[in-house]
Amino acid sequence: MGDYTNMSGYYYLIMTSGYYDYQKIVNELLASGDFHQVLEIGCGTGLILEELAGRKKDIAITGFDLTEAMLAIAKKRLDKFGHVQLEHQNVTALSLRKQYDLAFSYGGVWYFVMDGVNEPFLVSHIYDAQSNLDGLSKVAGHVQSKGRLLLGVQGPHRDYQSPITNGYVYSQTIQPIEHGFTKHYFLHDGEEQLMAQRIDYRTYSFAEALDLLGSFGFKHQPGSQVLPQFQSFVKA
Ligand SMILES: C[S@@+](CC[C@H](N)C(=O)[O-])C[C@H]1O[C@@H](n2cnc3c(N)ncnc32)[C@H](O)[C@@H]1O
Repeated sequence: MGDYTNMSGYYYLIMTSGYYDYQKIVNELLASGDFHQVLEIGCGTGLILEELAGRKKDIAITGFDLTEAMLAIAKKRLDKFGHVQLEHQNVTALSLRKQYDLAFSYGGVWYFVMDGVNEPFLVSHIYDAQSNLDGLSKVAGHVQSKGRLLLGVQGPHRDYQSPITNGYVYSQTIQPIEHGFTKHYFLHDGEEQLMAQRIDYRTYSFAEALDLLGSFGFKHQPGSQVLPQFQSFVKA
């Protein structure tokens, strides 16, 4: 599973050094259509939800995450917003006793890699095939009929290292494994290693992903909108 405990304390520093653009992500969520009850799958430390909650006060927002250390930071960050609810849950056993007109995941449990050159594919933080089925089934159970699922789009995965805003150096390496890849994340302050994290990701070809999501009632909306940050699905 995608446990982010080791990275949690450095997550803000790494992500806000150019890894994700939270304003742009929320711009696209808001441009994607109307919604009143929204669920973030794998909300991490709440950076997307903070941007969303600050801009939309008239909706009910729920986020959940597997990693307690990430969620603890999200709770502090989002404490000021009365319309945000956070839950410590694994998507494979998700139970919120509520349905949503929009569920989304950006860099959370599932995301697409699309670079405009190579065949796009779906990446899952969950390596086990059956657990992916369990998770998607749970998500489907929490999205209303005609509700939407948006899965984030990211650029290609590659090995690199780059200084972040405070001078620490972030690096990542990618190794192919059967059915996916292993990603190692590191943070160094000079010679000192501050953080190391490893996650095994499962991947699905684009065709497999559409079949998989379709089997839970999520119909792909190809090019229905110009949203480079997300792929959109509508629940039957
Ligand atoms: C790269 S972070 C993205 C966080 C947030 N969406 C953001 O944009 O900053 C991925 C998050 O997915 C969560 N995650 C991974 N597997 C999960 C699962 N099975 N159930 C719930 N959350 C999960 C991790 O704990 C982590 O916080």
